[in-house]
Amino acid sequence: MEKKTETKKTIFSGIQPSGNLNIGNYIGAISQWVSMQEKYNCIFSVVDYHAITVKQNPEELKQHILEITKIYLAAGIDPEKSVIFQQSAISAHTELAWILNCYGARIADLNKMTQFKDKAGKNQESVSVGLYDYPVLMAADILLYDTELVPVGEDQKQHVELARDIAKRFNNDYGNIFTIPQAVIRKEGARIMSLLEPSKKMSKSDSNQNNCIALLDTPEAARKKIMRAVTDSGTDIEYDLENKPALSNLLTIYAQLGNREIPRLVKDYRGKGYGEFKKDLADVVVKFLTEFQTKYNKISDKEVQKILANNQKIVEAIANKKLTEVKRAIGIS
Ligand code: AMP
Ligand code: TRP
Repeated sequence: MEKKTETKKTIFSGIQPSGNLNIGNYIGAISQWVSMQEKYNCIFSVVDYHAITVKQNPEELKQHILEITKIYLAAGIDPEKSVIFQQSAISAHTELAWILNCYGARIADLNKMTQFKDKAGKNQESVSVGLYDYPVLMAADILLYDTELVPVGEDQKQHVELARDIAKRFNNDYGNIFTIPQAVIRKEGARIMSLLEPSKKMSKSDSNQNNCIALLDTPEAARKKIMRAVTDSGTDIEYDLENKPALSNLLTIYAQLGNREIPRLVKDYRGKGYGEFKKDLADVVVKFLTEFQTKYNKISDKEVQKILANNQKIVEAIANKKLTEVKRAIGIS
């Protein structure tokens, strides 16, 4: 990372190395990060301690940590400009999370978290405590770096708001220790929906991967998934979230991956059928994936390991400084 300058704001974001990253993750989160690199001090984490809130296979987890780092790089995160690091390598994250568990985070807040309710479903009593406490670790991630902006997809907004509340409460009691962060959510593409069930979000933990286009899907598999995606009744290509949610989602994917404006697409497809639209969309997705994967395949495991090791030192210094400040404020250092 370029030396932190006072005029540049810090942004922080992360993705869990679990499951297969998909175009929802790319459009909602990573593509935003790429465009923010010039203007901000950027820190992007591979949040492996978040991933273990649900059981992971050790070998797969190890692989996913490398894979996700390569995905950041292939998507255009430049290690000369931004810091990419592995969360678990910096112990300040879990230490601060514990402190925030005791100072600032409240049971009533966590009980409101919709992601926990969705993920735990009917098993709220038997899932791990970690899954419940997940947003507090996320608050620690954000608050350690004086983060001002947190670029994420729509589903993470509530967690960023909790981080704000925790920071405000802590500051109220112990002085101006934390910067109050703010979520940055893109206007279009903040919630890419599933291909077969457009009422739910495209999710990398979906048991039916036909709902998702993974960034590492073969282009031909992705083409088939697009051709099989559900459409709405009617024949016109229209953007109408209420009445044509499936088509609106496909238009959003087309616009984001094909670098087009939705109104322009609607105009271009006037009088044409769903079949032609989907075929063209499949071409756009195939082109995007082919280019992305060409870059991905050029990055070696060794290169990734080197970047993670180098960056560990940079973030550790920043994180430890903030942790020491916090410990001093509460009287344990
Ligand atoms: P996750 O897959 O939950 O680890 O999410 C990683 C990042 O991708 C977060 O910023 C999410 O908000 C974002 N994200 C996940 N799924 C989607 C989606 N379907 N549409 C847009 N953004 C998403
Ligand atoms: N909870 C986020 C997700 O699932 C990942 C995450 C962990 C994160 N820590 C973060 C995102 C800090 C932004 C900032 O998508």
